[in-house]
Amino acid sequence: MKVLRKAKQIFTSANPLIIENGSIVFDKDIIWIGKDEDLPSEYLKEAIRVFDVSNKVILPGFVDAHTHLVFYGNRVFEFILRLKGMDYLKIREIGGGILKSVRDTKSATKQEILKYVKKFIYKFIEYGTTTIEAKSGYGLDLETEIKILETINELNQKPLTIVPTFLAHDIPENKKKEEYVIELIEYLKVIKEMELAKFVDIFCEKGVFEIDESRKFLESARNLEFKLKMHTDEFYNIGGSRLGVELGATSIDHLNEIKEEDIEIISKSNVVCVLLPSTSFLLRKEKYPPARKLIDNNCIVALGTDFNPGTSFTQNMQFVILLSVILLKMTIEEAIISSTINSAKAIGMEDKVGSLEVGKYADILVFDFEDYNFLVYNSAINNLKYVFKNGKLLFSKS
Ligand code: NIG
Ligand code: FE
Repeated sequence: MKVLRKAKQIFTSANPLIIENGSIVFDKDIIWIGKDEDLPSEYLKEAIRVFDVSNKVILPGFVDAHTHLVFYGNRVFEFILRLKGMDYLKIREIGGGILKSVRDTKSATKQEILKYVKKFIYKFIEYGTTTIEAKSGYGLDLETEIKILETINELNQKPLTIVPTFLAHDIPENKKKEEYVIELIEYLKVIKEMELAKFVDIFCEKGVFEIDESRKFLESARNLEFKLKMHTDEFYNIGGSRLGVELGATSIDHLNEIKEEDIEIISKSNVVCVLLPSTSFLLRKEKYPPARKLIDNNCIVALGTDFNPGTSFTQNMQFVILLSVILLKMTIEEAIISSTINSAKAIGMEDKVGSLEVGKYADILVFDFEDYNFLVYNSAINNLKYVFKNGKLLFSKS
């Protein structure tokens, strides 16, 4: 048992939102949380370690609701092309983009991929992320998709909590889309049988998977009792978010191009809107998702890095929070909630992670400042002092 004592503020992402002069007692899970003056003394006797965190701020570990964790190689050459003005979808048309990462991922062994991806895991931890969702999608054929999903499952709880998603990401070279969608539906059955994914996702976008194809695929996934996610309304509005609501998706992600009518429909549902501002920023997009309108209309907004080799090669949720406040006009409180409890909801993990409450995982961040607003104010500086994951101290800075 460990105790963190006398934090200047604990931002719980629960009720009450902020505890001043707060303490937390924990093992793998949180055992007690409250004001230090109410801390039962027996915990101090039993504890193997007591940390004095006065003048520091405690937050729940960040939950990254959208990543493409497993791939091989990089696309820095493409990033440079984009800096010179070439368009993302144009690069895809000439054989770069997702298909380049598919070629790299196919030719690597599972061992090579595991070794490569472990480095990314440490980066997530260093910046305070303790739970992520991770998509497949750089295989496209069944064998490689299984290789990726097995890798994701093997990495779960080592030490990050990882929620696996099977993503229909693109159409393989030399394959007719119509036939491939039928094939994908066959893949779903195998993936279900092997219990490799909790969610199913599709890149529903003009020129990739259109609405009818997405519907067919997602309905099949739903019939197999997968939970649903969608990459949609990122470049063009083809009605993807409305389809997501109609099918009872858990989340709809990106949403740069959604309209007023979409927001109205979303607000009447429980779907979580996962916004990915680092992708828009790194693609130099002019249009960001309308976070303010979504929140003002009581939609549930969550955040993610979209970590992937193409559009958003970052594991840093603190960077995402900064962009959300400055570019999406979210308040700092909203951005933290969207990166913790709301992102936990987006991946069906709100019973275990996303807030500091008794019974939840002891995924705890300690920052070396006295006011949580410094998370954004002291911009682009990593002030993390400690990262605990399931009660284990994984990162500490002297
Ligand atoms: O979420 N939009 C599609 N998928 C990823 C990009 C993947 C890639 O470019 O490799 C995204 O941005
Ligand atoms: Fe993505």
